[in-house]
Amino acid sequence: MAEEIKNVPRHVAIILDGNGRWAKQRNLPRTMGHKAGADNVETISDVCIAMGIRYLTVYAFSTENWKRSEDEVSYLMGLMRWYLKNYLDTALRKGIRMRVIGDRSGLDPEMVEEIRRDEELTAHLTNLELTFAINYGGRDEIVRAVKDLAEDIRKGEILPEDITEEQISRRLDTRELPDPDLMIRTSGEERLSNFLLWQLAYSEFCFTDKYWPDFSEEDLRAAVDSYSRRERRFGGRKQA
Ligand code: IPE
Ligand code: IPE
Ligand code: MG
Repeated sequence: MAEEIKNVPRHVAIILDGNGRWAKQRNLPRTMGHKAGADNVETISDVCIAMGIRYLTVYAFSTENWKRSEDEVSYLMGLMRWYLKNYLDTALRKGIRMRVIGDRSGLDPEMVEEIRRDEELTAHLTNLELTFAINYGGRDEIVRAVKDLAEDIRKGEILPEDITEEQISRRLDTRELPDPDLMIRTSGEERLSNFLLWQLAYSEFCFTDKYWPDFSEEDLRAAVDSYSRRERRFGGRKQA
């Protein structure tokens, strides 16, 4: 049963950053930081359910993260595949719908099959809609949407003058999700690193110095508390 919290964000998006520095601080290999980071996703998902947050989207691997060493990339891919396979039981038990956004054509076919299975088997669940951004880049997502739109124009199904924001939104990977209300980035970095460029247009931002594996229930509650006291104007102005 979710708690009664005033002004809880419907959709929270998190840039999970600082796994490497968390490990370094402990003289551990970076891979251990990634493992601790993956474990923390489950912890924070539970807190979201308790607080009544309906959507959680986590940035796990960007289109730019391929630039890392071959060892790190292959560890991360293996970890995500393992996670997507193992988390299914937990998701079914806790009523969590799973989704993945990003360019699947760049992923291992076995991982794509795992994603398809997770999405299909959890499609009816509504306690939390948990989305993993994997091989995701905001610019790449917009390019893919624009290509799709251009194709429809070529086929004569839509005229250039009929293009609206809605025509673009519904071609993005996030078409089934509301825009995030709150975006959190851990580890002290204050940039988007190509995350949800279109969708974060009017989201509230919250930055914390905590490394992702250390980001706790208290930290999420503090971010939500800060969010709940903000006034969102969306370009308008409050009537006196
Ligand atoms: C975030 O942690 C996880 C991914 C980007 C995959 P990092 O690996 O970026 O950790 P830092 O920023 O080097 O500490
Ligand atoms: C952003 O973190 C991507 C993810 C968290 C998946 P990075 O660590 O890759 O971002 P930069 O390179 O510091 O901008
Ligand atoms: Mg980083």
